[in-house]
Amino acid sequence: MSRDKTPELTDIILKAAAKARKETSGEPEPELTRELSWPMQVELGPGLEGAIACESKIGYVNGTKGRLIYRGYDIFDLAAYSTFEEVSFLLLYGNLPTRAQLAAFDERLVACRHIPKTLRLLQGFPVTEMNPMAALRMGTNMMRQEVSYADRDVARPSPESAIGTDEDSIPMEIPPYGERRAKYEFRRRRAGLRRFRRAGEQLLTPPTGEEADYHLIAGTATVAAAVARIRDGHLPLEPDPELSHAGNFLYMITGEKPSTVEERIMDICLILHADHGMNASTFATMVVASTLSDVYQSIGAGIAALNGPLHGGANEQVLHVLEEIGDVSRVKRWYKDARAKRRKVMGFGHRVYKKLDPRARVLRPLAKHLARKNKQAKHLLAIAEALEKEVVASLGEKGIHPNVDFYSGSVYSSLGIPSPMFTPVFAVARVSGWCARVREYLKNNRIFRPRAMYTGAFDRAYVPIATRRAARKKPKK
Ligand code: CMC
Repeated sequence: MSRDKTPELTDIILKAAAKARKETSGEPEPELTRELSWPMQVELGPGLEGAIACESKIGYVNGTKGRLIYRGYDIFDLAAYSTFEEVSFLLLYGNLPTRAQLAAFDERLVACRHIPKTLRLLQGFPVTEMNPMAALRMGTNMMRQEVSYADRDVARPSPESAIGTDEDSIPMEIPPYGERRAKYEFRRRRAGLRRFRRAGEQLLTPPTGEEADYHLIAGTATVAAAVARIRDGHLPLEPDPELSHAGNFLYMITGEKPSTVEERIMDICLILHADHGMNASTFATMVVASTLSDVYQSIGAGIAALNGPLHGGANEQVLHVLEEIGDVSRVKRWYKDARAKRRKVMGFGHRVYKKLDPRARVLRPLAKHLARKNKQAKHLLAIAEALEKEVVASLGEKGIHPNVDFYSGSVYSSLGIPSPMFTPVFAVARVSGWCARVREYLKNNRIFRPRAMYTGAFDRAYVPIATRRAARKKPKK
């Protein structure tokens, strides 16, 4: 396990944790950590600020103290000692897995990572011309297509009577979109690989409940990596059953087996991004799930919401800003201009955190650690640190500090991930939180249906088109 081989990374996280604990004390806010009794009264702000959507035992963000908790565990402890696989299990089931539970969970993920039919369909689309998050969303929808009967006019044959679905015998009920075979760049063949391939294909009967979660948690990473490869002019790589989720993800993107440090840093990034309260993409996912639409469609909504530059899309924008600034000497001037134009600085501010985001506390030193031997990364990081100083000096009092997106891009760049893939990386991690929260909500489901305050007109007389006149624009004030 790479976490045991990278004590220097554990030290970095523990130091960040100690600093955070010194600077902030973590008392839970009573008004946000109690059982609900409906109906309840809250103070609302625009954008549903202050609204309580449901009860949850999955995770808690204490924005005034800068703390993040998954199922009762502090994010610093999970980042220091856990793995993404363990954390996904924790989010889904509420407890850290035993050795046996983790082994069984890993085995399912290994199998579910292999999605040849989805990749075959994906390669039939112009992925190179698509926004990567749109391609990711399409890919997860195709995963659904492979396991769902819902959209077919004629029900497919039962799994028992279906033609074998290995890559070499394409069942004829699959329309021949694009490539007829899932093409992979195969690397060295290993004995035993076939076993995993078959296990993955066995899943291609309609998964329900937790099977769909495993399929999505494992498969979203494979789709995202395939999108990265295709955009780069390569064929997708076949997942390696011997690598961890994080290691596989990096390997399937870059084509290189990551070092233990790279694998562990990727793992920590996935842990840090796995869940985060009722953020916009989680809420979007849950709204769709609350209609009893399936989890694949729900995750598609989450991916769509995460794409926006005010949410997950900020991580890519941060890199563009750092490149636009270009040099530490230009930070002050750039920031002055940005303020004058009332431009928001990407990677800063948060609806919930009014203190430094604990995830940024971990990512900043990790970005530094990775940049030590990379001149370009070091250069951009120096700009980032200078920009942080400027922004915090002028807006820190207003509660504006770096958020998770400010340093994640620097880390991903150093890991060899191209910038258009930064937001898909976020989605690959967050899918485990989305799945966990959908499952939890569906146990006590009620369709989401807020209301809007109507401030429009009443009692207007219908005017036939022949006598209608264009409405006059209101003069600008
Ligand atoms: N740069 C400059 N000013 C800011 C920033 C920023 N990044 N963020 C907020 N402000 C100011 C904003 O101009 C406003 O000022 P005023 O009161 O004078 O009008 C005030 O702070 C409140 O801003 P808001 O947009 O109403 O705050 P919000 O809670 O609605 O939005 C936010 C939160 C994250 C959308 C916002 O801070 C923002 O746009 N940040 C930049 C984008 C970003 O980094 N997003 C990633 C968020 S963290 C990862 C994730 O969960 O997705």
